Formats: sequence, C-alpha cells, structure tokens
Amino acid sequence: MKIAVVGTGYVGLVTGTCFAEVGIDVTCIDIDQKKIDNLRHGILPIYEPGLEEMVSRNVEAGRLHFSTNLGEAIKDCDVAFIAVGTPPGEDGSADLKYVLAVARGIGENMNSYGVIVTKSTVPVGTAAKVRRELEQALGKRGVQIDFDVASNPEFLKEGAAIDDFLKPDRIVVGVSSERAEEVMRKLYKPFLLNGHPIIFMDIPSAEMTKYAANSMLATKISFMNDIANLCEIMGADVNMVRKGIGSDARIGTKFIYPGIGYGGSCFPKDVKALIKTAAENGYDMQVLKAVESVNDAQKEVLFNKVRKHFGGDLKGKKLALWGLSFKPKTDDMREAPSLVIIEKLLAEGCTVSAYDPVAMPEARHTLHDTITYAKDQYDAVIDADALLVVTEWPEFRAPNFEVVARLMKNKVVFDGRNIYEATEMEQAGFAYHCIGIRT
Ligand code: UGA
Repeated sequence: MKIAVVGTGYVGLVTGTCFAEVGIDVTCIDIDQKKIDNLRHGILPIYEPGLEEMVSRNVEAGRLHFSTNLGEAIKDCDVAFIAVGTPPGEDGSADLKYVLAVARGIGENMNSYGVIVTKSTVPVGTAAKVRRELEQALGKRGVQIDFDVASNPEFLKEGAAIDDFLKPDRIVVGVSSERAEEVMRKLYKPFLLNGHPIIFMDIPSAEMTKYAANSMLATKISFMNDIANLCEIMGADVNMVRKGIGSDARIGTKFIYPGIGYGGSCFPKDVKALIKTAAENGYDMQVLKAVESVNDAQKEVLFNKVRKHFGGDLKGKKLALWGLSFKPKTDDMREAPSLVIIEKLLAEGCTVSAYDPVAMPEARHTLHDTITYAKDQYDAVIDADALLVVTEWPEFRAPNFEVVARLMKNKVVFDGRNIYEATEMEQAGFAYHCIGIRT
C-alpha cells in the first residue's frame, strides 16, 4: 500500500512514522520547507519518546519520505490522511481552513481511486465538507475519479504516542462505503494483532466519538478535582476515596487522579469546541460547562494554598517550581497549569525559579525572562521559601530530601500531583500541602 499523510505536526508525524514502521510506503507532506528539510535530517519539530529513532530508521529503510509536494505524493495513493492543524478560533470553534485547503489540493492532483481520511480532530460534519471540496476540485478539472472520505480519529497520548499507535485499545473509522471499509481494514491489519477491535461506523458518529472520548476523560478529572477539594474541607482523604471507587470496574482505576487541572492541546480545546458546536445547534452542554469551570478554578488551587500558607503576603518570596509542561514526557506547554500559577505568583511580587527536564526551551517562548530557569531540580530550590511540584516527572518522585531541605530557606512543599507521602514529608521536617489529602 502507498499512503500520504498531510501535516507533519504531532498527529501526522506519529501516524506516518508508525505506518512506515510496519512496512507501508509513506510520504509525509508539509508546506513548511524548513520543517521538511529538518525531518529529512532526522530533526523533529516535537519531543516524543522514541519517535526520533523511529523516523531515522524508516527514512533509512526507504519507506518514509518527506516532501512539500502534495501533487506528487498524492499520485497513486491508496489512502491520504489529512492531519493538519485545526486551531481554535476566537469563539472556541475549530478553524477548518487548513483541512479544506488540503482537500482541495488532493482533488486537484489525485489520479486514481483513494480514501481521503480526516485524522485531525474536526467537528461533526467536516468529512462532508471535505467531500464537497474534493468534488468541486475534480469538477474544475473536468475529470471523474472515484473517491471516498472517511473519519479516523486518533486517541494518542503525548509521551506515549508510539505505543498508543502500535498497540491501540481500538481503532475507530467512519465510512460510507464498503470499498472504503475494506481499504481501511487492510491498512490497519498490522495493528490489530493484539486482538483489539477496529470499529466501523457512520462518519458523523466517528467524528463525535473523538469529542465524546476526550470530554468524558476531562469530566472524570474535573469530577475528581471537585471531590478532592471537598475531601479537604470534610477531613477525608482523596487517595482512599480514589481507591475505594476505582475498584468498581464500572468506574475504573485510570484517569481519576486529582491534581491541578487538565491542560494540553486536546482536552481544553475539545471540551470548548463541543460546548460551542452544541450551542450553535441549540443544545446546552451543562455538564461540560461545569467541567470547564472546575478546571479553570483547579489551576489556581496550588497558588491559593501558597498564599494562605504565607498569610496572604507573597511579596519578595522566592518560589521554586518543579515541572512546567502540562504533564510528564512532553515539552508541550499549551494550557499548562504552570502558566497560570506563575502568572499569579509574579503578580503577587514573587520571584520564580523553575526546572523542567524537557520543557524549558518551549516555556521560554511564552515566559521569556520573567522567571529563572534552573540548571537542575536542586539548583531550583536554592534559598526558596517554598517548593511547588507542578508536573510529576519521574525524577521528582524520589529526590534527595536531605539535600533539598539543606538548600531551601523554608522547608515547605506544595505538591500539586500528590506524589509524596504526607507522613514521610513531615518526618523529613517539611510542611507539606497536597491535593485532597489530610495533612
Ligand atoms: C488526550 C487523550 O488522553 C488522548 O486519548 C487523545 O488522543 C488526546 O488527548 C488528543 O485528543 O489528541 P493528552 O492531552 O496527550 O491526551 O494527555 P493525557 O495524558 O490524557 O492528560 C491530559 C491532562 O489530564 C493532563 O493535564 C494530565 O495531567 C491530566 N490528568 C490525567 C489528571 O489530572 N488526572 C488524571 O487522572 C489523568
């Protein structure tokens, strides 16, 4: 099989590389010449564990190609994935101009039957727009070429994307013809060896599945954050409650960890977009609106604890932050809770010294020199009045607390991810604050 993947962002790059890994001939296309040149030399625009080696390996094997020439790549293709960005507009709805421009480009160049698949997260109804765009482009050329559109949402997690792609829980594909179903089944066959299903459905349902999945997960998190906050007030321990409810298989143990709010490029954007789509169609998504407002408030919880601890006056205090990215194993700073916390600390007249194993270069784009970037996690805590654990990177889980205590001015830790044991921290002489746990 021969496929094209248009858009070498996070989704496109992982998708293209993983298809090449199982032996399929893949061309990844982007309009950004520099990005393509870099990729040909093994330089990636994103950080994702294991991806760099996989790209190099498949480029060397001659299965993975990078190009700016959509017209060439699309010729004789069995499947073309559209994986370009859908940036949120001012009002939160996804902007489809890039998706539709690619559809047009494909229509202007395709020369035989192919399945055109939307892979980017797109609102319900987008595949139908893609089909119209293709029909128009073919009409202008005055040619008649058969094609199908399909919707194939992705469920990759940043930091675990390769594993998620190679060993998926499920693959969801929206199609409107048996021919397209056959092509997509053949394409995904190498990934279904673990017995997990490929689920075919109509196109709007596949498009909706993506939003429903992310919204359900965001709801779990906001729900647990609400419960954690209430646990603190009522003298309960959310770790116990979490175990208590998680052992009910209907609830499950995953994704019920409270913290300082969900971030990243997906949950915030998709929750907003679904609320918007519903409103445009006369429906009020009440649960999701609450999910969003709980999350906004949760991003401020750690800051509020810091201020309370210091009696409301933070002027001149030096705060150390461990972690900047919205979660571990990524350098993604989009909608990261750290940004809200830092903004609030700076507004109160604090200085901030932060350390993140990967995200500091990315953080600099937004935060510039408003904070100090430490050379390691111990450097960050020198003379600090308090330490805030913002992202649960593995290296923060078991630090040498004797060294930390010696370096800090005040032995106070605010743990936004509940990664330490309250009793151990107290034995080590720290004042310890976390989320939803009696301390
Ligand atoms: C999410 C989904 O998990 C993927 O299935 C989906 O494909 C992806 O969005 C997407 O739409 O592209 P991702 O944003 O990479 O993936 O990150 P997650 O690992 O899901 O974490 C999201 C946020 O939830 C993080 O801020 C994390 O700290 C927070 N979280 C997660 C919690 O606060 N508690 C939990 O128990 C789990």
